[in-house]
Amino acid sequence: MLDARATQPNPTIYLKDYTPPAYLVDSVALTFRLAPKATRVISRIQFRPNPDNVNRDFFLEGEDLKLIWAKIDGEEITPHITDKGLSCAVPDAPFSFEAEVEIAPEDNTALEGLYMSSGMYCTQCEAQGFRKITYYPDRPDVMSTFSVRIEGDLPVLLSNGNPAGAGHGFAEWHDPWPKPAYLFALVAGDLIAHSDQFNTVSGKQVDLNIYVRHGDEGKCAFGMEALKASMRWDETVYGREYDLDIFNIVAVDDFNMGAMENKGLNIFNSSCVLASPETSIDANFETIEAIIAHEYFHNWTGNRITCRDWFQLCLKEGLTVYRDSQFTSDMRSGPVKRIRDVIDLRARQFREDGGPLAHPVRPESFQEINNFYTATVYEKGAELIGMLKTLVGDEAYAKALDLYFERHDGDAATIEDWLKVFEDTTGRDLTQFKRWYSDAGTPRLSVRDDFKDGTYTLTFKQETPPTPGQDSKPPRVIPIALGLLSPNGDEVQATTVLEMTEAEQSFTFEGLGAPPVPSILRGFSAPVILERASTPEERAFLLAHDTDPFNRWEAGAQIARQLRMDMVQNGGAPEGEYLDTLRDIARDASLDPAYRALMLQPPAQEDIAQALHAKGITPDPQAIYDISETIAQTVATHFADTAPRLYAEMDTPAPYSPDAKAAGKRALQARMLGMITRLDGGKTAAAQCASADNMTQHYGALCALLSQEFGADENAAFYQQWKHDRLVMDKWFAAQIAFAAPDKASDAAKRMTHHADFNAKNPNRFRAVFGALAGHHAGFHHISGAGYALLADHLIALDPLNPQTTARMMSAFSSWTLYDAQRQSLAREALERIAAAKGLSPDTTEMVARILAS
Ligand code: ARG
Ligand code: ZN
Repeated sequence: MLDARATQPNPTIYLKDYTPPAYLVDSVALTFRLAPKATRVISRIQFRPNPDNVNRDFFLEGEDLKLIWAKIDGEEITPHITDKGLSCAVPDAPFSFEAEVEIAPEDNTALEGLYMSSGMYCTQCEAQGFRKITYYPDRPDVMSTFSVRIEGDLPVLLSNGNPAGAGHGFAEWHDPWPKPAYLFALVAGDLIAHSDQFNTVSGKQVDLNIYVRHGDEGKCAFGMEALKASMRWDETVYGREYDLDIFNIVAVDDFNMGAMENKGLNIFNSSCVLASPETSIDANFETIEAIIAHEYFHNWTGNRITCRDWFQLCLKEGLTVYRDSQFTSDMRSGPVKRIRDVIDLRARQFREDGGPLAHPVRPESFQEINNFYTATVYEKGAELIGMLKTLVGDEAYAKALDLYFERHDGDAATIEDWLKVFEDTTGRDLTQFKRWYSDAGTPRLSVRDDFKDGTYTLTFKQETPPTPGQDSKPPRVIPIALGLLSPNGDEVQATTVLEMTEAEQSFTFEGLGAPPVPSILRGFSAPVILERASTPEERAFLLAHDTDPFNRWEAGAQIARQLRMDMVQNGGAPEGEYLDTLRDIARDASLDPAYRALMLQPPAQEDIAQALHAKGITPDPQAIYDISETIAQTVATHFADTAPRLYAEMDTPAPYSPDAKAAGKRALQARMLGMITRLDGGKTAAAQCASADNMTQHYGALCALLSQEFGADENAAFYQQWKHDRLVMDKWFAAQIAFAAPDKASDAAKRMTHHADFNAKNPNRFRAVFGALAGHHAGFHHISGAGYALLADHLIALDPLNPQTTARMMSAFSSWTLYDAQRQSLAREALERIAAAKGLSPDTTEMVARILAS
């Protein structure tokens, strides 16, 4: 077959060009006759002209479809077909459109539309995959009810909505809730269900199923509990009840993303739902709980209220991420969740916002929408919801959300609609707040203070650097949560929220006996970079005394970052006092072990590179790596007595439980093991490897060994024990690379691509290898350029098979301009090689162009 893939970028689409659809859909009936190479899809779509649009051109999106026949009101027609879709003449009145098309799910390696994964059929339609299934107005503001009939000889045949009949070789489904095509889903396979039930608050009984491949049925219990907890939580906290008789989740091995909220039929990457103590680590359990909640919460924020167009993606994603973070805080520890989220935000979103891929939370244009499922849309989008809640208060937030659900249920809505419910419930003008949606870039907040005659004055200045396409940015409203501490550590001003609206603005506090120590941006109340020339004493003071757990952690993180920056530039060593403080925190039994573990977590090496760059210093990844190693060794030596004691103390009793308390203890224990392994030649870690009855401790010990170049036997034994388990193998693949020395990391990655169990077509395995390489800061950015070249080779090879995963992985290159001339020229060479690849997908074309434009 001819390669029909575009070598040209997609045309740019603009938010300002939005027009309502020319035709609306009242109902859709689909019949699928499943066959791997030749599935037939028969559609009957009831159209009606949209009174809100006078344009009467009839166009249906459709890609890679073989049209068998088409009819209008029962009469066969000969439509005009291009590689983008179908057009034909239609009556100026309601009419039915019918068609039969043929598709080949088995040949679909892009994993978009209908495809096959280990013998099962499954779909992924968001954002624009439905057009690869049949001809349709594939846009989120066209909503309709769907009836689906699936014919095939597989035992489990699933689609959205409620079951509407089944017999030998077929099943029928009806979804009574109008939805856009991106929420359509179909699954067919030889699957086994882990089933349960849920009674909703109004007494409706809902059947729950998690469908998995045979052999995985023992890994569903945790996900099921998380689902029931999510359903209850959404009723209690947001007053949202489930609205179908059945809720199905399916685990799929080959999946481009984490999971998908299709109405009544969520489809999950198996790594985001399958869990067992023997095969999953604590972090997996927490992630699974959060993603199950996230997809479930989409039923209201995404499905019942969807997006008018893809520019509004943050309307559902930002809000749903915010909701799932609230859920996790309630289920586990609020401060620990917040700190983890901020670490992640800085690592991914700040990096995006400060580089060539910067874009607003609501972008104004795109070529390939799949490239905008980003940390900015998701995580910064969630931060905006949090700021809004801080500004209006909890009660007003609850009222606004009630109004949002009441007013927009069944709508395809916009950010304007969202902000309007807040304006209507609070009387506030949110014009300035809206800049958070339209202006890219991370604001820098600088602050100076002054104390005179009992009056303390804080003066803030905000500035947002230029980003691609946006040169100057007016001030935004910034909620600054603040507390003041007296020199003896008492809180003289409890947390209060300052509302900054000007470019420069002062706030005063009166009646103070002595200059206070400010604790600024408590709980990280706004996604900004706080620049404060605070003294080391002040940071040490906050590390010891801040009553806000987030800012206490932040003080420690600042000290750790500054220490590394100083050492990279001037040499030196950590001070004894600082090491003592770390040890005191580690031993402080009044603190949650999970929190203590976070306090001991060293900053990411990429963070140090970014911080140096911001100061005008060209970062050397190898030097940052070396300093990090030196410090880790010094800390370990300082903990020589403490670590073994704490290691024993943090042991959790069998049987393993993934709950937050036990996981926190294991996190602190793992930190101790990391230190011990630097001192005892790997004895303790090897013993833990041998005795662990759960993956958290088994894998943790293996990683500790590999990071010190021990553990060859344990590594081989681990492989032998787990080579049959795909998800454990992903971890093993990643570990082979993540702990290699910087000059060996790309060799390690290359070696893993030659391993018999490597399969580039499986996104999880591809990401295990190249995610680990890209995450190895000094390894990926090694001065040889081998990391860049290897990744480029494999992205060029993957692109024709799977553009989405390729384009996503391109972001590894997004910080290439941070480094020295030699690294830059090697990175540029790799990028230009990708750009020049023949038949490069529009997805990757757009990414490489944006990255190279910097
Ligand atoms: N809506 C899904 C979620 O956030 C993710 C879909 C991602 N789609 C994509 N084309 N990248 O739960
Ligand atoms: Zn989502």
